[in-house]
Amino acid sequence: MRGLKRTCRCAELGEKNIGEQVTVMGWIQKTRNTGGLIFADLRDRSGLLQINFQEEKLGKEQFEKAYKLRSEFVVAVTGEIVKREGGVNKNLATGAIEVMATSLRVLSESETPPFPIEADSKTKEELRLKYRYLDLRRPDLQRNLIMRSQVATLIRQFLADEGFLEIETPMLTKSTPEGARDYLVPSRVHPGNFYALPQSPQLFKQLLMCSGYDRYFQIARCFRDEDLRADRQPEFTQVDMELSFVDEEDVMDVNERLLQKIFKEVLDVEIELPIQRMTWQEAMDRFGSDKPDLRFGMELKNVSEVVKDCGFGVFTGALENGGSVRGINAKGQGSMPRKKIDALVKFAKDFGAKGLAYLCINEDGSYKSSFAKFMTDEELQNLVSAMEGEPGDLLLFAADQNKIVWDVLGNLRLELARNLELLDKNVYKFLWVTEFPEFEYSEEQGRYVAMHHPFTMPMEEDIPLLKEHPEQVRARAYDIVLNGTELGGGSIRIHQNDVQETMFEALGFTKEKANEQFGFLLDAFKYGVPPHAGLAYGLDRLIMLMAKQDSIRDVIAFPKVKDASCLMTDAPNVVDEKQLEELYLKTTEVEKTEVV
Ligand code: AMO
Ligand code: AMP
Repeated sequence: MRGLKRTCRCAELGEKNIGEQVTVMGWIQKTRNTGGLIFADLRDRSGLLQINFQEEKLGKEQFEKAYKLRSEFVVAVTGEIVKREGGVNKNLATGAIEVMATSLRVLSESETPPFPIEADSKTKEELRLKYRYLDLRRPDLQRNLIMRSQVATLIRQFLADEGFLEIETPMLTKSTPEGARDYLVPSRVHPGNFYALPQSPQLFKQLLMCSGYDRYFQIARCFRDEDLRADRQPEFTQVDMELSFVDEEDVMDVNERLLQKIFKEVLDVEIELPIQRMTWQEAMDRFGSDKPDLRFGMELKNVSEVVKDCGFGVFTGALENGGSVRGINAKGQGSMPRKKIDALVKFAKDFGAKGLAYLCINEDGSYKSSFAKFMTDEELQNLVSAMEGEPGDLLLFAADQNKIVWDVLGNLRLELARNLELLDKNVYKFLWVTEFPEFEYSEEQGRYVAMHHPFTMPMEEDIPLLKEHPEQVRARAYDIVLNGTELGGGSIRIHQNDVQETMFEALGFTKEKANEQFGFLLDAFKYGVPPHAGLAYGLDRLIMLMAKQDSIRDVIAFPKVKDASCLMTDAPNVVDEKQLEELYLKTTEVEKTEVV
């Protein structure tokens, strides 16, 4: 490399550079040898550039080297930018030019890679993840990670301009098992004691508000030992913020402007402000989801009143048990074949439905239905008109407890949208969901748990209900939703010790237990705490949607797979006996179970 300096990246060059001398460096994408001429596509993170190797320009020795070039060799090429002789390649940014090489230096050779380095790879993801360093050379992943870096920079700039301070909080901290399962780190110095990796900087950012920092942010790594999905990784990144002396409007305002700026600058997409808002109750009633996808309609309708005296026992039975009957109208899908309807019924059952009642309205106005025989013509007509059913429509109904009905129909709505290709990735529909329930009942733990977290302020008018009717208490919490994905969430925090204590009581904490776990926060609140609020985005999810990807794995450089392992490094793995001894740890024999 001595004496050789790269002058620019490959795809930064164009017709404007014709006649210039350049030195470019990168990887050989492919070579073509035709009748004594050698062409190569050279690749770096900016894109591709054609190199033309001719013996009279290069000399015999170097021309022979060019002959031996293979994919993924790393080379440095010096030469003149010339107009392409063989015509313009419109698919390439640099398609009108090429470098007429006058010097070639091979910087390193490459074995044949296990899969081709190209966009839209058909290679299986497991293989790509095993060789992630090669996968990361592919233009789609490079584009995603470049976008991620660009967004992170914009966030830093924007928040700094708004008076936020970037402050780091600890990675080795205390386990506060509210929420997901913690990742634990054993302490060598304190035998038998463990740190936990943070699930979020929540408590520390609240303490920073107590300490007067006023507006904090951090692009923070968070760790949660939970079941993985396309939008969940065991370690992920939050854009985390907290503000003092504010209410919901302030938090929403600054975040709406932040999102607007990111989408404008990175995607040239205009987001109209203010972003739409909807209470949790309305979101559940209309979409069966607390993160509704607003790119399409197909809203749920509650038909409990209409069917309450009908002859269909499934419906009336659910109502007698305190549930509801709701439906969706899949417009124009009345001629869906039986097989496909059966697949929808199975899909509904996978989400806990006991069944899915359907009614196709034929073009002649007659019905094909799984339950019409249990109803009179009048009852059917009332139901159809409540659903705004017209000839050619397919009506689908679930009858059960609200929670199940919402879950089933909310997911069915999405499934239908996927099948009918209603989900346009170029459309961005933002939504704030507000007034979440403060608590949800955990069957597993046999108690109420905080839906957001235990520091979320209840709505003022609901505070008196905390003790007797926790299930009715609404929280001053808000989620920001984009196209059916929960991008971020936050809340106004409790800053009064008495309210916080009542919260802990409602969550089934004794005073001692609350003190043991969160004593430092409760103590801090005794010394003058400002009212404060905050929010955190999942940065990975934001970039996933901006880059039009289906999984956050595609926007994380080194992600983990479903069983939380890394296919490249083989983490997690066994460690030396000696390491365990130092940590005073012993493992019990476990049979390795296959995780799918
Ligand atoms: P919450 O738990 O809602 O709130 O997390 C905020 C956002 O982080 C993202 N997220 C994840 N992304 C990828 N993988 C995961 N396993 C994962 N878990 C969460 C989501 C989510 O909306 N401290 C509070 C925020 C606050 O109140 O200020 C918190 O962590 O996009
Ligand atoms: P059955 O009387 O069990 O044959 O059910 C008649 C129809 O009602 C079938 O299409 C079932 O799938 C449907 N069904 C059963 N239970 C429910 C339910 N809880 N909600 C909606 N439809 C149901």
